Amino acid sequence: MQVFEQVNDLRKQVASWKKTGHTVGFVPTMGNLHQGHLNLVKIAQQTCDKVVVSVFVNPMQFGPNEDFDSYPRTFTEDQAKLASLQTDAVFYPTVEAIYPNGINQTKVIVPGALTGVLEGANRPGHFDGVATVVAKLFNMVQPDKAVFGQKDFQQLSVIRTMVEELALPIEIISAPIGRDVDGLALSSRNQYLNTEQRNIAPKLFTKLQDVAKAIQSGNQDFLALAQVAKQNLIMEGFDAVDYIEICNPITLLPAEMNDKDVVILAVARLGKTRLLDNILLLS
Ligand code: PAJ
Repeated sequence: MQVFEQVNDLRKQVASWKKTGHTVGFVPTMGNLHQGHLNLVKIAQQTCDKVVVSVFVNPMQFGPNEDFDSYPRTFTEDQAKLASLQTDAVFYPTVEAIYPNGINQTKVIVPGALTGVLEGANRPGHFDGVATVVAKLFNMVQPDKAVFGQKDFQQLSVIRTMVEELALPIEIISAPIGRDVDGLALSSRNQYLNTEQRNIAPKLFTKLQDVAKAIQSGNQDFLALAQVAKQNLIMEGFDAVDYIEICNPITLLPAEMNDKDVVILAVARLGKTRLLDNILLLS
């Protein structure tokens, strides 16, 4: 497995793969890899000849009071995990390689209808950072396909929209949410939880499942369902619920009676840790 820190070296390798007719898959990550990330790599390997994984903790997508400094950086372990999957290449750039002119440079901004709600409303500027870094990484790697997790449902919508509107020649593949045995969605941030919080954490998924069951049995009073779920989460021991909303999966607007498909999205807090999860219900 090759590790590239310089864009030019990576580009040469990808160009030579493409010249020999290989397709290239890409999995962007911020490292501290868990099984959820590794499943994305496996999906990329199933659909492409060569796979590049990037590991870059992107400063632009963190707010001033967020965990950029403390975000777990475990490159040695990440490298071993990726090597064990026979990943072809890892792109591990410095902040300067990605932002040669500092963070205040050309940005990619997907409009507010998608980025100003839910995570975007709670983390102003977050999706500008995500769209900008993913556009840059796409230009650097030049993959045929890129795999993103459904765990970050809104991120996936933002990336799909960016790819469509900028006419980027990249197929976006979505991967199902990887969960622990008790249902907790895998996340690099789960390790911030103490034992008591870790015991409460899986109840986020349980409550989302309760809402899903109610919707599947015909309840369409989405606002009331969300309100009850929010109260239940607090009763279970969560310290706060940033949001729980039932939305149209395409527009991310509040779901309406005639919507066939819906997505239930939530973020609940345990101490300072934000736990993010969702369930997509397709008709
Ligand atoms: P990160 O949180 O490291 O996640 C990288 C990819 O793994 C994303 O596509 C995310 O949705 C996916 N992922 C994380 N946990 C998952 C789980 N439990 N199941 C399935 N997929 C999961 O998302 C980012 O990094 C960044 O915003 C990034 C896209 C790399 C841009 O900086």
